[in-house]
Amino acid sequence: MAVRGNFFEEKRDWSKLKDQILDHYLGPYLAKITTSGRPTRIADCFAGKGRFDDGQPGSPLIIAKHVAAIIARTPALDAKAIFIEQKYAAELRANLASAPNCEVIEGEYEQCLHWFLSSRLDRGRSYFFYVDPYGVKSLDFDHFARLKEVGFQSLEMLINFNTTGFLREGCRLLKLARAVPDWADDLDYETDGKNTSARMDEVAGGDYWQTILADFQAGTLDFHQAEEKFIAGYTDRLRNHFTYVVNIPIKDRSRHLPKYRLVFATDYHDGLFLMADEMHAAWRKLLDQERGGQLYLFDATELEALRGATIQDKVIAELEAPIDLRDLLIRLIRKHGIAHTTGEYKKAIKEREGTMFSVARDPAKTPTGRPSLSMDHNKVRIIVGTIPQARLPLQQ
Ligand SMILES: C[S@@+](CC[C@H](N)C(=O)[O-])C[C@H]1O[C@@H](n2cnc3c(N)ncnc32)[C@H](O)[C@@H]1O
Repeated sequence: MAVRGNFFEEKRDWSKLKDQILDHYLGPYLAKITTSGRPTRIADCFAGKGRFDDGQPGSPLIIAKHVAAIIARTPALDAKAIFIEQKYAAELRANLASAPNCEVIEGEYEQCLHWFLSSRLDRGRSYFFYVDPYGVKSLDFDHFARLKEVGFQSLEMLINFNTTGFLREGCRLLKLARAVPDWADDLDYETDGKNTSARMDEVAGGDYWQTILADFQAGTLDFHQAEEKFIAGYTDRLRNHFTYVVNIPIKDRSRHLPKYRLVFATDYHDGLFLMADEMHAAWRKLLDQERGGQLYLFDATELEALRGATIQDKVIAELEAPIDLRDLLIRLIRKHGIAHTTGEYKKAIKEREGTMFSVARDPAKTPTGRPSLSMDHNKVRIIVGTIPQARLPLQQ
């Protein structure tokens, strides 16, 4: 079992992106989840050294920063971080020496899972699992399903799934003759000489990947399409266990194809909205700022193709009948992934309120007696519908 690259030598662009998403998500997540008063645990299952050799923080220091901040604000909170690391536990401990409420477990994630799954663990806790291995060999789908079955107060997962590496490995195991693009060769992908197709079924949560690769071999799918079909199959299966699943493809500029997928699973619409917005912001920022750099998510044409119809058209397509704004946003994210933020959808509705969209609010008035224009579905009940066709001439 080995990786060929030195992951911790310097923080590369794709690591910066996933860390940005983790960083931006954890602050609001902890602020919200700890209001329940229940114990909260962040588990970084493949923690690494804590800091890259170039001095940049890795996921443990990012997580520790958020735990320290929430404890500083409310010292009585029971919020802790758990870091599991097989190889670099000593360096990790040194890097976390001054961080409060952080525990480093030296050992294998697979062993620790038994403890998470054991009946001795307090089910009243909220857990956020960050799962960031080198390759996919530790990503046993059944483990996630079983974790969900434990019935914690709440459970959210952010998984780095190297879909490209998985399919490349799958081609090798199935002895497919069609050449896999050389960009799919990843220095950080851990290879395992003992791997089998049956083991890959366990990682994927089924053997559907074999059909996808058979189509790739037959030439009915290219590698890019095979990757898209595979992640769709994977997220469908996760949706059997979590209410909401959303993912972001992390791409390498020179290839225009995903390097890996960051997959988020939750049962909470607030978590979905927050993460979908963060994922959207991450790829917009990189698109805008790093056009000349090495990391690339979508070029302008691809972006427009992905965004497709106007936002208003996308909203209208979901409005066969009036619907609660919160449920409308859920539908839109389910259908269009991270193509737009929740803020963009709300703005689009508000801009055409009274011409294209009807918006009913309860309460209808603000505390000062003025008509409410709120689009905050957490404070006001908001029902969105379409204005009947007869009234459309009002439209520009
Ligand atoms: C991709 S790195 C994690 C990087 C980290 N999330 C960060 O942002 O700095 C994967 C880490 O998992 C560790 N590792 C690999 N297999 C493991 C296992 N079975 N159990 C625990 N840790 C493992 C490796 O030593 C490595 O430090």
